[in-house]
Amino acid sequence: MTTPIYYVNDVPHLGHAYTTLAADILARFERQRLDVNNVFFLTGTDEHGANIAQAAEKHGKSPQAYVDEVAPRFQETWQKLNIKPDYFIRTTDPRHEKIATQILEKIRERYIYEGVYEGWYCLGCEKFLTELEMVEGKCPLHPTREPDFQKEENYFFKLKELAPQILRRLEEGEYQILPTERHNEIISRLKQDVEDISISRAGVSWGIPVPWDKNQTIYVWFEALLNYYTATQFVAGKQEFWPPGLQLMAKDILWFHAVIWPAILIAAELPLPKTIFAHGFFTLNGQKMSKSLGNVISPEELVQKFGVDGTRYLLMSQYPFGADGDINLDKFKEKYKGDLADGLGNLVSRITKLGESLSFPTDKLDISQENVTIKNIETFLLDPEHPNFLRIDLALDIIWRTIRGLDTYISKERPWENEASDDKRKLGKIVVVGHALELLHEIAEALEPFLPETSKNILLIFNQPKITKIEKPLFPRL
Ligand code: MSP
Repeated sequence: MTTPIYYVNDVPHLGHAYTTLAADILARFERQRLDVNNVFFLTGTDEHGANIAQAAEKHGKSPQAYVDEVAPRFQETWQKLNIKPDYFIRTTDPRHEKIATQILEKIRERYIYEGVYEGWYCLGCEKFLTELEMVEGKCPLHPTREPDFQKEENYFFKLKELAPQILRRLEEGEYQILPTERHNEIISRLKQDVEDISISRAGVSWGIPVPWDKNQTIYVWFEALLNYYTATQFVAGKQEFWPPGLQLMAKDILWFHAVIWPAILIAAELPLPKTIFAHGFFTLNGQKMSKSLGNVISPEELVQKFGVDGTRYLLMSQYPFGADGDINLDKFKEKYKGDLADGLGNLVSRITKLGESLSFPTDKLDISQENVTIKNIETFLLDPEHPNFLRIDLALDIIWRTIRGLDTYISKERPWENEASDDKRKLGKIVVVGHALELLHEIAEALEPFLPETSKNILLIFNQPKITKIEKPLFPRL
C-alpha cells in the first residue's frame, strides 16, 4: 500500500499525517493478519520541480541542500506518530532517477512526441490548469497564488489515445477507484475530452534530465508517480509487491492517480494497481487549513496535547473516512476526555483494580476466545468490495462500543460489593472480573493497528502471573 509522496516545499502538516496514518493503520492490520513479510507500506517525499526550487531559493539554499533538510522532517514526524512505513522513498535517490529515466525511454517511441504547450500553470499543484478548473482566474486550491502563463516546447504524452483503454479497464474492473462517487466522477470526465499532457519542462532545471534532450527535465508529476514502481524495483526483495493492492490519497490528486498513472503503466506494459482510494479533505474549524490564514496545526502540536495514541484516535475517529470533514479542537478535547481518559483509560484502571483485589491469576483467563463484533472489523477494513471499505472510523466505533458495553456490564454487576467472606458471592465476583479481563485482552489486541502503544501497555497486564492495578493512567487528564 502506498501514500502520495509529499512535496518538501514545507514541513509536514496534519493533512499529510492523515493519509499516512490511515495507511499505517491498514499496514499494521495486514501485518497482523498476513505476517510482516507479506506487507510493503511505502511513503516518501516528492523533491523535484520548480516549486521546490523556489522554496529552496527563499531559504537561501541549493535545492539539494534544502530537500536534504526537509525530507527528514517528514520521517521524524512519522516516527513521532508511531507510523512505521516499510520504506521511505525520496525522488532524489539516484536509483529512482535511473529507473524513472528507463521507463521514459521505454515509452518514448510509441507514446511521446514534441509539441508546444501554452497555458496557465499552478506552481502549488505543479500542473497546467484548464479553463474549467480556474475560479476567477486562480487555482481553487491555491487562491493566494497567481498562476503563470507559460508557453514552452515540451515533450507530450499521448494520454488522449490511451483514455478509451483506461475507461474500458475501469469499467471491466481491472482496477477500481473508490469510493464509488469518485469512480463515477472519473468515468464521466473520461467520457469528455481528454487532452495529451506535457511530460517535460524546458524552464525547470531542478529535475531529472530528459535522457535524449538535456535541455529539458522530466515533468515532476510524471516521475513522482513512478516512485510507486521504482521503489519495488530497487529496494531489495520487494519486486513481488508490484502491482500495489491499495493506493491512498486525497481527492485533490485523484485524476493523476486514477487516469494519468494507469496510462503511464499501460504505456510501459506494466500491471495496474488494484484499488485507488481517494479520501476527503479536511478543514480546521470550518476554514481551509493554510499558512496564509495562519491556522495550520502541526502533527507535533497535537501529539504534545493528546499524546501519540490520543492523536491517532482523534484524527481517525472524528469523521467518516472518505468524506470531507472538519477538525475541531474543542471536539477533540471532549472526545479525549470522554472516550480516552474517562473511557478506555478509566476502564483499564477499574478492571485491574478489581483483578488486583482478588489477586486474579492470569493463567486462569481464557484469552483465546473471539468476540464476533470485533472480528467483524476485518471484513470491511480489508475488503474493497464491502460498502464500508476503509471506514477506519467505523472500526474504532465498533471497538469503543465494546469498551462502553464492558463499562456498563461492570457497573451493572457491581462486583466490588461482593463480600470476600461469602463463597458464592466471591465466586460471582471472580466470574465477572474474569470475564471483564478476557474482554479487555481482546480489546487490547484489536487496538494494536490503531493505538499501538496503548495496546502494548494493556497487554503487559496479562504478562504477569497476577493482575496488578495499572498505576500510570493510560490517558492523563488534559
Ligand atoms: N507531491 C504530490 C503527490 C505526488 S504522489 C506521486 C502532492 N503532494 S502534497 O504534499 O501536496 O500532498 C497532497 C496529499 O496530502 C493529499 O492527496 C492528501 O493525501 C494529503 N493532504 C494534504 N492536505 C490535506 C487535507 N487538508 N486533508 C486531507 N488530506 C490532505 O500532491
